Amino acid sequence: MEKLEQLINNQVKDWSLDQKFYKDKEIFDLEIEKIYMNSWLLAGHQSQIPNTGDYFLFNLLSESVIIIRGKDGGIRAFMNVCRHRGSHVCLEIKGNVKRLTCPYHAWTYNLEGALVAAKYLSNNIDKDNLGLHSCSIDVIEGLIMINFSDNPISIAMMKQELSEPMQMFGMKDLKIAAHRNYSIEANWKLTVENYNECYHCAPAHPEYAKSHSLKYDESSKEYQSAQKLMIDALAKCGMKNYEISADYEDQIESQEQYAYGRYALFGKYITGSEDGKALAPLIGEITEYNPGASDFTLGPVSFLLAYSDHVVAYVFTPVTHQTSQCDVYWMVDKDAKEGKDYDLERLIWLWDVTTKADERIIANNQKGVNSRKYTSGPFSEKESTEKNFISWYLNHLRETL
Ligand code: FES
Ligand SMILES: [Fe+2]
Repeated sequence: MEKLEQLINNQVKDWSLDQKFYKDKEIFDLEIEKIYMNSWLLAGHQSQIPNTGDYFLFNLLSESVIIIRGKDGGIRAFMNVCRHRGSHVCLEIKGNVKRLTCPYHAWTYNLEGALVAAKYLSNNIDKDNLGLHSCSIDVIEGLIMINFSDNPISIAMMKQELSEPMQMFGMKDLKIAAHRNYSIEANWKLTVENYNECYHCAPAHPEYAKSHSLKYDESSKEYQSAQKLMIDALAKCGMKNYEISADYEDQIESQEQYAYGRYALFGKYITGSEDGKALAPLIGEITEYNPGASDFTLGPVSFLLAYSDHVVAYVFTPVTHQTSQCDVYWMVDKDAKEGKDYDLERLIWLWDVTTKADERIIANNQKGVNSRKYTSGPFSEKESTEKNFISWYLNHLRETL
């Protein structure tokens, strides 16, 4: 695509993207192929399918994946496409099955994806070659990651480096207490850009800014002094300090990108709650509430935010070139009981109110970007991760030319 090459070359470094990147359908289609169909995406948590035959669907644009627990306890992913004439096999978003039977002509697959029944099919046809197509899958400390590519980029380094901090938060032993899906009237990149900068946190998120030090620049006195207090308290909370940066521009060659970092909460706040008080029982190896929030990056569009008593997961996916969705999951210790150990409304308050505000500001961003008068603008110093995301994106797209 010659005009795309020109667009990429005309892009001024550290300035926002040209309008065409947010409006052009052809560029959008290319992004889906090159980014979404080739990146690891957070699909869910193993606790969603505890028993043999439990499954849920992960749907993205034209693709649908069945994530299912087999007889051997293993978790597998199959494309939701019948090998007869292509119908979706599973229609319900989640459930429990003994076998997977296609609703059209009743071809039946076992939990390992093999075709076990197909009435009136000639004996000459080899059923062994007609199992459900598998989808690449990996489970990291209970988190289910999938990749639509048959030859996916390696996730080994992410697994190796993030498993310790994930164990600290007991990721394997969490359960999903709540899941919300937010529709955002904007191109997917505006949603990821917004997640990757906290320049907007002070003006747009008064609830978040009250408790989270990231509203300040990392070089500021306010940030640094809160950070020191939080880090000094880590050991007595049974926690360790990690700094892991292998995302966007720091991505390791032929490895999926990932990162980990922790920043402080202010004063009386021991978790991301409205009143500063605990929201749920401590998770993982944590022995005392630590006033901080840990950011995990899992590939380009999936993120975790981990407090001492709960973890919030974020996944951004496109719907059309100008609409997206954001799935947010709130996870707590698997043994915590709703109503006794945690109150659902209190638990989800901060990130529900914050995501609803994001939904508005990102949609307003897209509205202005669509104007004939929009031109790209300079990033501030407080938008360094967003800057890195944009550079990564442009380089990634360039490689596909
Ligand atoms: S399309 Fe599935 S059985 Fe015919
Ligand atoms: Fe935000």
